[in-house]
Amino acid sequence: MQKLEMIYEGKAKRVYVTEDPALLIVDYKDDATAFNGEKKGTIVGKGIINNQMSNRLMQRLERAGVPTHFVQELSERETLVKRVQIVPLEVIVRNTAAGSFSKRYGVEEGLVFDEPTIEFSYKNDALGDPLINTTHIAAIHLATPEELDAIRRYALRANEVLRAFWASCGITLVDFKLEFGRLSDGTIILADEISPDTCRLWDSKTGEKLDKDRFRRDLGGVEDAYAEVMRRLREHDE
Ligand code: TMP
Ligand code: ASP
Repeated sequence: MQKLEMIYEGKAKRVYVTEDPALLIVDYKDDATAFNGEKKGTIVGKGIINNQMSNRLMQRLERAGVPTHFVQELSERETLVKRVQIVPLEVIVRNTAAGSFSKRYGVEEGLVFDEPTIEFSYKNDALGDPLINTTHIAAIHLATPEELDAIRRYALRANEVLRAFWASCGITLVDFKLEFGRLSDGTIILADEISPDTCRLWDSKTGEKLDKDRFRRDLGGVEDAYAEVMRRLREHDE
């Protein structure tokens, strides 16, 4: 399958059409941004790691009953995926307080919740991706109540599967962001990526941050952290 015209360029990926109208090719870049594009940089090798990591995790989720856009890894940075219309929501699941949750509620980072939380942001750069509740989602027709039910169910199932898998790698899954899309028949599937760009991953023993917070917070060792997470994933992903 060949890349044809580029139809979208995001902060971390380019998306191309193929001869098959139902399939796209995603090409992962090393570019990193934070705070709605205010901070820009490069994480050398990130595109390769995020591509390969996301593909392995999506295949694991498929096996556990979460439908995804993954079709086939084509190269280090390129993957064939099902074409979807993205539901403009960032779906965030949290097991431990961190980031915007800690800031908003004045809760220390690291507080472990009794049950996972789920929240939605409206994907809209001009508005700064504001938090949105489910009645507001329905009011502006971002998703139907049935679609939201499926999204919630898949996101919580993904959390169970990913949390257990990362635990087996000695990594605590603190929180993560998912995006979903609609196939042409309206079926909801998981899209976008699952990587250290979109998850908070802490070493279970030392608490060391092994994710994009190293870039967001200028902690250094960004490339090493991504490589370490990928190394552990390979070791435990048969
Ligand atoms: P937050 O604490 O900043 O809301 O982030 C929650 C999780 O979502 C964290 O794992 C990082 C991820 N995330 C993204 O993938 N993209 C984003 O634009 C934001 C704000 C967070
Ligand atoms: N806010 C995103 C992040 O920190 C990136 C961005 O919006 O530029 O992951």
